[in-house]
Amino acid sequence: QGPPQFCECCPMIDFAKGHPNSSALPRELLAQACDVLSESLKASSEGQIFGREVLQYGASEGCHRYRQHLASFLNRKCPDGWPAFPRALLSTNGVSHGLELVSSVLTSPGDRVVVESPCYFLASDIFRQHHLEVLPLPSTGGEGFSVSAFDEFVRDQALCPSAKPIRFLYLVPSHCNPSSHSLSNEDRTALVAAAQRHGILVIADEVYHLLDWGRQDDPKNGNMGNPPRRMVAFDPAFRFASEAHRQHGMSLGQGSGPLTHQMTPGDEDTETPNPCVISISSFTKIFAPGLRLGWIEAAPPLIDKLAGSGYITSGGGVAPIQEALVQVLLQPMAEGAVEGLCSAGDFALDSHIARLNSEYEAKSALLANMVNSKGIGIARRPSGGYFLWVKLPDGVNSQHLLPVANELGVSFLPGSRCHATGVSLVPVDTAAEEGARAVATRSSSTLEVDDAVALDGWIRLCFAWLSSEEISAGTTLLAEAIQRVASRDSPGN
Ligand SMILES: Cc1ncc(COP(=O)(O)O)c(C=O)c1O
Repeated sequence: QGPPQFCECCPMIDFAKGHPNSSALPRELLAQACDVLSESLKASSEGQIFGREVLQYGASEGCHRYRQHLASFLNRKCPDGWPAFPRALLSTNGVSHGLELVSSVLTSPGDRVVVESPCYFLASDIFRQHHLEVLPLPSTGGEGFSVSAFDEFVRDQALCPSAKPIRFLYLVPSHCNPSSHSLSNEDRTALVAAAQRHGILVIADEVYHLLDWGRQDDPKNGNMGNPPRRMVAFDPAFRFASEAHRQHGMSLGQGSGPLTHQMTPGDEDTETPNPCVISISSFTKIFAPGLRLGWIEAAPPLIDKLAGSGYITSGGGVAPIQEALVQVLLQPMAEGAVEGLCSAGDFALDSHIARLNSEYEAKSALLANMVNSKGIGIARRPSGGYFLWVKLPDGVNSQHLLPVANELGVSFLPGSRCHATGVSLVPVDTAAEEGARAVATRSSSTLEVDDAVALDGWIRLCFAWLSSEEISAGTTLLAEAIQRVASRDSPGN
């Protein structure tokens, strides 16, 4: 019996792919936004859209009017906390571009950066390409990020006086890829305090922040609120600027200069605190990856630094046309309705996100139930994001499981791929494992390699890409693969 054929080009049921299903892509909304832009262009003799020439070079930070709408959107979606405002927002081409920008503007080759473990492995690839030394925190397996472990780790690192400075910590604090954990508000407060003590920036990748359907089965979520506060709202410098914006309104929000005076990390004599958090997010998961539009949110002095990057100033902002399209969707629908999604007066994007959350909640619950009931492993039911992080039964190794699963027509991401060393061990037998360890050890410490190998007791399954039918069929195949590996690898066989 061959693998089930769900689509012609992809016979494999692929739980590894972290993409949205094409049925979740909002084609009608994009078409609607294109129509509005097209009408607006035709009606204006100067080719203006929303009072500006979109085909012209624009503001480095992104169009001000668009950033006002973006700030209102963030304040609608995250009302609990310190308000977003345009002066603290910078347009990017997505989170990946944001990470690239932060690495190129705020670090020098040889600097060190700390990343959580397990982590979003493609981020550490970006850091390595900037010749940064990536230091993975000791792996927490399924426990989620530990502030005290971070504090201790950085203190230990500081004992080595010859080491280069640690510039930043990178983590995914909301519905993490891969662990699906979120940091509570208490942990966020403690993390920012620790980062300030050590003089380290916190780079928070918040790409899943708004894919949130409430807190379930997550003892760590504490009084997180729904969704949790954006990480930047814990930065005293951001709070100071946000409060000044609230009190003085648009006069500060519209200014192009720094809020009070230029602050740089380490500048002790300022009356305002040093900025210590950068939140990075995008429309990738809440609209479409192909839009390539995202944002950075930070205290204005950091925004000024990043917007001053030669590439951005020389290009006059990075995405004026995408911004114009999204601006349409960030406003209440002027007239008509998008069938089955929103009516006149609704915020189109908000309605789309609500639909995504309800679909993903159902699919994640289905997947978690199947995984737990079919003996695939133990998984917490996610309260947001894209992924289920599964502890395999004792003695089952994800590297051994993968080829067996592939043969049956199902795939997943082995846990060790989520280790920041980039150690992707692909052994199918012990000899190959020894070989892979030898290669990995040349570039990483033994401790890190052991840590990566320990993650092979885990797998990451994505529920966003597959349909409910594929999730059901795929988990049946995975359970079969686990049984085969468990009986083959059990002592005595
Ligand atoms: C944690 C995380 N950050 C960033 C990205 C990529 O974001 P973008 O498409 O905005 O560059 C992904 C995509 O899978 C992700 O999981």
